[in-house]
Formats: sequence, structure tokens, C-alpha cells
Amino acid sequence: MTHKIIIDTDPGIDDAMAILFAFGAADIEVLGLTTVFGNVSAERATLNALTLSQWAGRPVPVAKGANTPLMMEPRKHADYVHGQDGFGNIGWPEAACERDVRSAPHFIVDTVNANPGEVTLVALGPLTNLALALELDPDIASKVKEVVLMGGAVHETGNVSPVAEANLINDPHAGDAVFGADWPVTMIGLDVTHQVLLKSGVLERIEAANPEQGGFLNKAAQHYFGFYREAMGIDGCYFHDAATIAYVLDPSLFGCRHGAIRVATDGLAIGQTMMAPEGRSFPTEGWENRPLVKVAVEVDDVRVLSLFERTLSAQ
Ligand code: BDR
Ligand code: CA
Repeated sequence: MTHKIIIDTDPGIDDAMAILFAFGAADIEVLGLTTVFGNVSAERATLNALTLSQWAGRPVPVAKGANTPLMMEPRKHADYVHGQDGFGNIGWPEAACERDVRSAPHFIVDTVNANPGEVTLVALGPLTNLALALELDPDIASKVKEVVLMGGAVHETGNVSPVAEANLINDPHAGDAVFGADWPVTMIGLDVTHQVLLKSGVLERIEAANPEQGGFLNKAAQHYFGFYREAMGIDGCYFHDAATIAYVLDPSLFGCRHGAIRVATDGLAIGQTMMAPEGRSFPTEGWENRPLVKVAVEVDDVRVLSLFERTLSAQ
């Protein structure tokens, strides 16, 4: 079965891994890339998305999206993690081609309406564009096949604050709207991505088999590996964004729970994703009439990494 997807993204080194993974998967048709602030500005994310799609020989539409969160001041971009250019400051040549004339939310609305019931939205950054698309046309909720997003954490600690994951803390209001809409959402958060450690050996083997794409990822990832080494004492990096593509290709790689998800929008816990497990009721307000979200809590890390390596090595 071919999965038609739109990737909403802030590339970003692990976003680049996810995008090349999706381009390389025979069972995935990438309908377009939409961009958002986060790791870098929306401008830079758009340039990087255009560069990746041109350079990989997959010139899909790229639509530029939000450069700020819905309701609050933006946080600083994560250039200390991904480099100022988002690709680890390796001087990668930039594409000289045009983006789609539509904004990211318009592109999402048009594409979902043109393919009702068929499009999976894969979100790899702050959820601002998805929330804006819902505002623009609330009916898309019933026409999207699935939203698969990298973000949040329900049992695991956060990576920006003790409770908040980066994509959710960057726009918690958008996150709360996306988790509250009546569409099927699967959350691939830190609960699973912190169980999958990508070591440099995997990228070296991909580079040996696929020198162009593997060479780029291996070079760009050195900055990312440096961050993990210095900030966390970890040898390798967590497999965040690309885990969503593994889920799209093979959901059996993940074990999931269901529950309503709320996102804290202010205070010390801002950006925290909290789950009310399916079947539990609470005497406090705020949990009633919220849809169930599928939350990944278990993952087969060996099979996920092997799917990634096989797919990129075969290009
Ligand atoms: C998420 O934050 C970004 O830095 C990564 O690209 C990923 O989407 C991980 O918390
Ligand atoms: Ca990302």
C-alpha cells in the first residue's frame, strides 16, 4: 500500500534523516513538504526543504509556513543543536528553486481536500501549521487519514525542560489544538524516541552503500552528535523525527496506549504533554470531550534502525 504523506518540518538534522528516509521508501509518496520555525527560522527551514528535495532528485512542492507560535513570543531557535544553517554548518550547497506560492496551511488544506481520506500528515516540528490549517478549514479533520507527529512525552522526562519536549514547548497552544481536534493522532514522543539510539556506525554503513545521501547525513550529524556528547554524555543521537516514518511504514514496530492529551500552555510546566488514560475519569475539568490519541510507549529499536539503514542504503 502506498502512503500519501505531507511532511511538516523544521529541517534540522533529524528532520533531514526523516525526509530522506521517506523519499527512499517505496511505499511512501511524499506529496509535499511544509515548513515551520523551530530548529531554524521558517525562511531557513524552507530553503533547507527545497535543498533536500532538489538534491535528492525529488522536486516536490515546498510551502513555507509559520515563523512564530500562535499566541506567544517565539523561543530561540535550536541552532546550538542543529547548527545555524540547520544542517550542522557543513556548508552544504543551497538549492536555487522556487517554493510553492501557497502558505503551508493552505497547501495542507488544498492537498487534503484533493485526496480525502488518503493523506497522512507527518509533523516533525511545532504544530503551528496544522493548527492554522484546522482554523482555515475545520472540515479537514474528517478527511485526514492520520496525523503522525514527533513530539511530547507522557512518561519520559522532557528535553527542553524537565517536562517539555522541544516541538511542544515551541507552540503549546497549537499542540493543544491539534491533540483536541477530531482526527486520528498518533504521538511518537520522547517515550519511544529516547529508546532508539542512532550511533555513528549506522550512518557510516549508509554512507558506504549510498555515498551521496549517506555522506551528507553523516557529515551533518557530526554537529548533532557533538551536542549529545557534550550536553548529555551520549555516544550517538536519539532517533526523533525519522521514527515517525518508521511508524508510517510499519506501525507494528511500536506499542501504543490511548488517552486524551492536554498541553500545558503556561507556567513552569509549559509545553508538557499530559495523558488521561483511556477509561479513567478524573474529577478535575479540562479532560471531558477530548478525543483519544494513540501514544507510542514501546518500540523495537533494533528493527526501527534496521528499516532506516536498509531503506537509505538501497538508494
Ligand atoms: C524534536 O525537536 C527538534 O529539535 C527535532 O528536530 C525534533 O523534531 C525533538 O525534541
Ligand atoms: Ca524537527
